[in-house]
Amino acid sequence: MSEPSLLDEAAVARAAEARSSFGKRALVLAEAASTNDRARELAREGAPEGTLVVARRQTGGKGRLGRSWASPEGGLYLSLLLRPDEAMLHRAPLTLLGGLAASEALDAAGRVATSLKWPNDVLLSGKKIAGILAELTKEKGENVVVLGVGMNVDTPLDAFPKDVRKIATSLRAEKGSPVSLEETLRLFLGLLEGHYHTVRDGGGALVLSRAADRMPMLGTRVRVRLPDRTLEGKATGLNATGALVLEVDGGKREVVFAGDVEEVRPA
Ligand code: BTN
Repeated sequence: MSEPSLLDEAAVARAAEARSSFGKRALVLAEAASTNDRARELAREGAPEGTLVVARRQTGGKGRLGRSWASPEGGLYLSLLLRPDEAMLHRAPLTLLGGLAASEALDAAGRVATSLKWPNDVLLSGKKIAGILAELTKEKGENVVVLGVGMNVDTPLDAFPKDVRKIATSLRAEKGSPVSLEETLRLFLGLLEGHYHTVRDGGGALVLSRAADRMPMLGTRVRVRLPDRTLEGKATGLNATGALVLEVDGGKREVVFAGDVEEVRPA
């Protein structure tokens, strides 16, 4: 198969052409330690909402819970700078919006059917194909969110470290043919901007229900690892803020805002 496709400034500009703000200003790098860290620096310099940082590869890609994110060439590694007000922050988790847009963009780019695993994983064939890392800080009293998204689009599987190959996949690997990074980025920016504006304009419930429709874990028995305890029960749905609702043994309702979730298979 051919070498993986690579993004340059012209391709990123084309991908953002139809957008109102997402990706209109973009920093396109051959390499970054972490695009989230570069976006954070730009935020400190006053960069506006919608500023995008994209890198062809990362040397210190960050995942959730202090994990690393393998970032060889062929993947889409991006961070979007968002400046949501307080109300927006409580309507729907930006992590979920990013996951929904990534899942939909991958489906359209590769004609596949990915699913979402709450709170931040996109899966295909039971393996991870994308992940989201949203980092929130306050700057001069205002919320700044760096929404980092890693999508394994055109990544050859053998470019991943051996341990990652067991748990991750890419569109290229699933389809057996190259997939365009520019097209995937174009789809993603359009979908994310649409969802962000829908939530901002009061349509959070609609976006959350679209996310929930992509979560096969809802209705099944799950185990959630929290920093201080582990819960087990039926995942019944998402609440109005995007938190996971569990019905634990004895019928008690628990609402989980963050945690590692795994399915519990019947013995
Ligand atoms: C996870 O699933 O644990 C989240 C992975 C997030 C990876 C992306 S790649 C672009 C951005 N820059 C980073 O350092 N991390 C995010």
